[in-house]
Amino acid sequence: MKLARRAQGIGASPTLAMNARAKEMKKQGIDILSFTVGEPDFDTPEHIAEAGITAIREGFTRYTPAAGIPELKEAICVKLKRENGLDYDPADVVVSNGAKHAIYNALQALIDEGDEVIIPAPYWVSYTEMVKLNGGVPVVVPTRAEDGFKLTPSSLKAAITPRTKAIFINSPNNPTGAVYSRAELEALAEILVAHGIVIIADEVYEKLLYDGATFTSVAALGPEVKDLTVTINGVSKTYAMTGWRIGYAAAPRELAQAMANIQSHATSNPNSIAQKAAVAALMGPQEPVRRMLDEFARRRERMVAGINALPGFKCRKPEGAFYIFADVSELFGRTLRGQKITGSVSLAELLLVEAHVAVVPGAAFGDDRYVRFSYATSMASIEKGLVRLKEVLAEVR
Ligand SMILES: Cc1ncc(COP(=O)(O)O)c(C=O)c1O
Repeated sequence: MKLARRAQGIGASPTLAMNARAKEMKKQGIDILSFTVGEPDFDTPEHIAEAGITAIREGFTRYTPAAGIPELKEAICVKLKRENGLDYDPADVVVSNGAKHAIYNALQALIDEGDEVIIPAPYWVSYTEMVKLNGGVPVVVPTRAEDGFKLTPSSLKAAITPRTKAIFINSPNNPTGAVYSRAELEALAEILVAHGIVIIADEVYEKLLYDGATFTSVAALGPEVKDLTVTINGVSKTYAMTGWRIGYAAAPRELAQAMANIQSHATSNPNSIAQKAAVAALMGPQEPVRRMLDEFARRRERMVAGINALPGFKCRKPEGAFYIFADVSELFGRTLRGQKITGSVSLAELLLVEAHVAVVPGAAFGDDRYVRFSYATSMASIEKGLVRLKEVLAEVR
């Protein structure tokens, strides 16, 4: 069968691929410690799960309006006002099957063949592929560890062309954990507004902040910026609800309407039961979020110290999310148990096979000098994983 060109150019998500490989080895009875997953290892808080169960019991199991139930859209508007200082009307909100789907809808509504989308690297793996699937051209702009992995105004300016349609700003960032300050966002927004470039603000990790880092929502910078911004968020990461598949976009009315129309033909409404659970998440007690954050903070300390103690590994302390992006380039060209380490993919392979530890190669995020660790895994696994890595890496020659 001959597939469409669009499908031929797209690979499976490398994070999911590495995770699947680790799971396969686990099935064979090998004790794999996985640092690959991008989801909280906690259960969905009880009161949220109960809201889902109640929805089933009450027969809330039919089609809903395609862009989401009014109750959830209103809860999202309350949340955006309360936590982000943003004024949106429910008609500006589209609820989707996860934040990923919300981003996809936005690109469907915005991108014409050949339009360029600026993606600061390191980036979340799906941005480039989603842009390509929509006929756009990803323009990857590297950032530097010395700049905290943040895009600078000068490198932004240099990347803009007459074809630039949109940019991704992902703060806190996956995979680096970088969090942009208000001033840093303002400096970028000034340039973007001057060029009329649409900002896709992916804010799914907004609650996962450490050491007093503060979060600024891009659309909150002012009315001119808000008019060009589609705010993307969801309940997956904040409320340990990855499997429920609820994300959302808040956007200027015309764009929101187009996204809602696209969704109505592509998938119809997101899951009715999960929508009720999402209302409970946004409107209910926020204490479980704080508890999860405390635990992530503890793990982050341990991981940063442990990884920096590994031969050939260097990492900065991330301000947000639950990932560590470690520079492993010092190991390139050396050998481990007779096998040459040529880049992040070969190192990740070797660590999986020799140490039974799974990490994601940085090449997947647009920077081959790194590997990504997720600390959304238990402290016991972290301790064990660090010991194994230390033992195996001691044999690097
Ligand atoms: C930066 C970023 N955006 C969006 C998503 C998608 O989240 P959701 O589960 O809401 O689709 C992820 C998930 O890994 C992510 O890392």
